[in-house]
Amino acid sequence: MKILGIESSADETGAAVVEDGQRMLSNVVSSSLDLHTAFGGIVPEIAARSHIESIIPVIDQALADAFGRQKTVDSRQHAQSTDYGLRSTQFDPWDQIDAIAVTNRPGLIGSLLVGVLTARTLAITKDKPLYGINHVLAHTLANFITDTPLPGYQLGPKPQFPALGLIVSGGHTQLMLYKSPKDYKILGQTKDDAVGEAFDKVAKLLGLPYPGGPSIAQAALQGNPTSVKLPKAKLENSYDFSFSGLKTAVLRAAQQMAGKDFTFPSTELPGVLTDGQKADLAASFQKTAVATLVETVVAAETEFKPKNVLLAGGVASNQALREGLRSTLKTPLLYPDIKLCTDNAAMIAAAAYYWQQTADNPYKLSVIPSL
Ligand code: KG4
Ligand code: ZN
Repeated sequence: MKILGIESSADETGAAVVEDGQRMLSNVVSSSLDLHTAFGGIVPEIAARSHIESIIPVIDQALADAFGRQKTVDSRQHAQSTDYGLRSTQFDPWDQIDAIAVTNRPGLIGSLLVGVLTARTLAITKDKPLYGINHVLAHTLANFITDTPLPGYQLGPKPQFPALGLIVSGGHTQLMLYKSPKDYKILGQTKDDAVGEAFDKVAKLLGLPYPGGPSIAQAALQGNPTSVKLPKAKLENSYDFSFSGLKTAVLRAAQQMAGKDFTFPSTELPGVLTDGQKADLAASFQKTAVATLVETVVAAETEFKPKNVLLAGGVASNQALREGLRSTLKTPLLYPDIKLCTDNAAMIAAAAYYWQQTADNPYKLSVIPSL
């Protein structure tokens, strides 16, 4: 079964074709990230406009990468033949597609609408079943993509169950327990900021470029991770997370390092901190954020004894997190190729394969910005 996935919940426009939830035939992503950098975060209106511009070319490219370009038929040649051009030998990649899957929740409303309305229109005009997909939960399914003819991907082995899933991205931090790809429950989630959001906010406070995750990781390489003592939020008897206190603790530590009190505006900190202080703060923050995640996953590992731990989401590309989990867990850790950690449509197509039940109504499928 070949499913065309479509993703447009934030600043990435993605389309991909995945066969049987595991073999990725194409994966095209166009990002409007550069347009947002100057603003220090995603500007929803700019993101939506850029989805409108790129969504059809991105889908065309995903079909072309998977099946080759549509062959053009010379009508004069056909006029000579016995079928008078009526029986076309034209190859249509849409004939290869069995269903369309699209992110319809959660995300920026304008961005989601572009993907969902495109998918609905294609489902109607190409007569394909349509599946609306939860973007957050789909992140883990990137680990089920274990095979591809595409160059440049490092894919892991097939996940074994039961499995724990840690979804860490700009909008979500969730710990999941999977009995199978479609039989799962949420063990815990963040009570306030997502961990990626904390990386982004701390980076902004230190004057490091957006997106903050890679900037913090880069700056941390030059810093001392034990130089600043920061608190790890511990929520009793629960697998939930909290990252907003950590972010505030970094702000206070930064003000103190600069010799200022708590009234000193955070926007002026980048101008008074040295590069060395910024690197120490970045390294200490990253160490604490990683330790918070690792401790919670280890507690769940002890209770549920999984066969695999699956890491997913944009923050899953963080090397310190991968290393922290790998060195502490007894269970084998699986994570997707970096290109499948950040937002992509291949995970949406894979999720639809495992979760499909009744198809959604292409005249009615709505978007749900917040869950
Ligand atoms: O999954 P994703 O692409 O989009 C959402 O669904 O949110 O995740 C984006 C998040 C951003 O917060 C970004 O700062 C973070 O992932 N991120 C990282 C790294 N690369 C991206 N965080 C830490 N370390 C990284 N190397
Ligand atoms: Zn995401």
